[in-house]
Amino acid sequence: MRYLVTGGAGYVGSHLVAEIRDRGGEVVVVDNFVTGHRDAVLPGVRLVEGDVGDAATLQAALAFGPFEAVFHFAARSLVGESMRDPMLYFRENVGKGAILIDSCVRGGVRKFVFSSTAALFGVPGEGPIGETAPIAPVSVYGESKAMIERMLAWAGRVHGLRGACLRYFNAAGADAAGRLGEDHRPETHLIPLAIDAALGRRPPLEVFGTDFPTPDGTCIRDYIHVADLADAHLRVLTRLDAGSVAYNLGTGRGHSVLEVLRAVEAVGGRAVPHCLAGRRAGDPANLVASSARIAAETGWAPRRAALEAIVASAWAWRVAHPDGFAA
Ligand code: UFG
Repeated sequence: MRYLVTGGAGYVGSHLVAEIRDRGGEVVVVDNFVTGHRDAVLPGVRLVEGDVGDAATLQAALAFGPFEAVFHFAARSLVGESMRDPMLYFRENVGKGAILIDSCVRGGVRKFVFSSTAALFGVPGEGPIGETAPIAPVSVYGESKAMIERMLAWAGRVHGLRGACLRYFNAAGADAAGRLGEDHRPETHLIPLAIDAALGRRPPLEVFGTDFPTPDGTCIRDYIHVADLADAHLRVLTRLDAGSVAYNLGTGRGHSVLEVLRAVEAVGGRAVPHCLAGRRAGDPANLVASSARIAAETGWAPRRAALEAIVASAWAWRVAHPDGFAA
């Protein structure tokens, strides 16, 4: 089986590529290395360096097909940045997404799996968030992903492209074999920041908000291991034979910021220096997924759901790669 992966040098994309390779599949990666890392492209993976908004790059990549499916990860993904420069997100995510979907349709691709986000749901109501929750993003980032989901729905109706929209909650953790891990620049995510603080490689972590309506006052998130996300991407392919789908992906269990800090301390055996700070703009109190639909329809279940297991894999990668991937 051969697959095309855009953004295959990025965090979640590279873990999917590793999973495909480990299962004996072939992969062509398209990446422009604006946020991806060259060292995250594993040996044996064919690389087409370029932009998903560039038709010639896409033509070159699609020429290595036919592909069983295209997995689309390449995107800007910082909520804060999207609120400072909205048109960057519409240009990069939506405009280039349209060019990619168009090329795929013209190139005869039949299955398209899209890296979507819990940010679609904005500030949702109480309880686990299922697929019927209203799509009401409160950031341009979330809006840009919602727009691609809509485009894919139309590409399905008009052209018969089968689309799977996978809304990740908080992707976390690292490859069990130690080949890959999380390395965003700038890093904004809680677990890598807490690990670096514990290792003394960053200033004390700021806990953003202690007055949320949660048991300990800090935000609750649903942390899901990247390898479990990768597994979900491959499981939906069979399901796509029956039509397009959208799934929310999490463990169904939430953990507060303070619980995450305690997990990092337990795994690393050292304190996480931190201070209590004000809220970060736009953070909902509680985001936990209901993944009942993908479980029922594909048999998917997170196999690394325990927070300490997720943190332990992230810790192991960071200790082995204190500076992340080579610059
Ligand atoms: N946090 C801190 N201090 C930090 C960093 C984060 O307290 O230095 C807190 C945040 O306020 C939040 C939690 O840790 O409560 C998790 O924050 P992350 O930045 O790691 O993740 P988010 O939940 O903000 O973002 C994730 C994805 C986004 C997606 C969003 C959907 O990374 O791509 O979920 O709401 F848009």
